Amino acid sequence: MKIAVIGAKGQLGSDLMKTGADREGLELVPFGRPELDVTRPESIVESLSGKGFNAVINTAAYHQVDLCEIEIEKSFQVNAAGVANLADFCQREDLTLLHISTDFVFSGFGRNEPYGEDDEARPLNVYGVSKLAGEQILRNRMRRHIIVRSCGLYGKAGSREKGTNFPRIMLKLAREGKAIKVVSDQTCTPTPTARLAPIILDLLTRNQYGTYHATCHGETTWYAFARSIFEIMGIKAEITPVSSQEYGARARRPAYSVLANNNLERQGLDRLPYWMQALEEFLDGE
Ligand SMILES: NC(=O)c1ccc[n+]([C@@H]2O[C@H](COP(=O)([O-])OP(=O)(O)OC[C@H]3O[C@@H](n4cnc5c(N)ncnc54)[C@H](OP(=O)(O)O)[C@@H]3O)[C@@H](O)[C@H]2O)c1
Repeated sequence: MKIAVIGAKGQLGSDLMKTGADREGLELVPFGRPELDVTRPESIVESLSGKGFNAVINTAAYHQVDLCEIEIEKSFQVNAAGVANLADFCQREDLTLLHISTDFVFSGFGRNEPYGEDDEARPLNVYGVSKLAGEQILRNRMRRHIIVRSCGLYGKAGSREKGTNFPRIMLKLAREGKAIKVVSDQTCTPTPTARLAPIILDLLTRNQYGTYHATCHGETTWYAFARSIFEIMGIKAEITPVSSQEYGARARRPAYSVLANNNLERQGLDRLPYWMQALEEFLDGE
């Protein structure tokens, strides 16, 4: 099976390339933005047409959540129109399209139990709205699609868009002796890309079309997650919990966006660990 990986230098893209290299019968071909820009249909055709691909994985996104509030057009161009461009191409060429989405399609309003795949999505911020638009366009345009929603991604490559990831920011601030404030009223399940990548390849190789939640198990707040990072690493840090309001980020974020991997479990494909175990694995060697 020959698979194009879009956004291959990103943290998820890098782990997909690594994971795919060990799988027999798979050929993963990486694409960065200079070769394939999802907002430019002609670059999709140039890069992918007539090359014998069976499937495309789209990890590309504009996901600087606070900047998305200002750069609305760019958010929709990458996260919605970009997906439409890929869907049109894949439909025409008869390829499967696997697309990555987010827990931020949910509002968290009045919620204290994990969201299933069929729960109503009601995003609170521009990023979430643009990602939900991408999902809906994909569902409307092609049957052979897979949508994988995950949460709080961190990987060895670091996020290309953000230049780093949450564990590394925390470690850097602590090592510099800075006072750290972290929100304690947003509950979710951070998930390392090294654990998500194999699940994505399982879904694709088994033609498991539809929408899937794929996060680690359990739940935590960003504050408790940060504390765990310091505990695991044995680092002393001056860390204070703050509310989202005190923190004052531009974009509103869900207070609760824990996802239940119901559809993965039904397919017998839920091999994701508890979030703390996954964090320990990631921090080994950091
Ligand atoms: N990070 C999170 O916490 C999180 C949580 C839930 C879901 N997600 C979703 O997971 C996916 C992967 O996230 P990530 O953390 O791995 O992101 P990342 O490290 O920032 O990588 C994103 C990649 O997208 C590429 N890209 C951006 N705009 C593009 C365009 N117009 N055309 C082609 N490629 C473009 C970038 O390419 P260049 O490197 O060439 O610039 C980059 O390699 C995204 O869909 C995101 O929405 C992320």
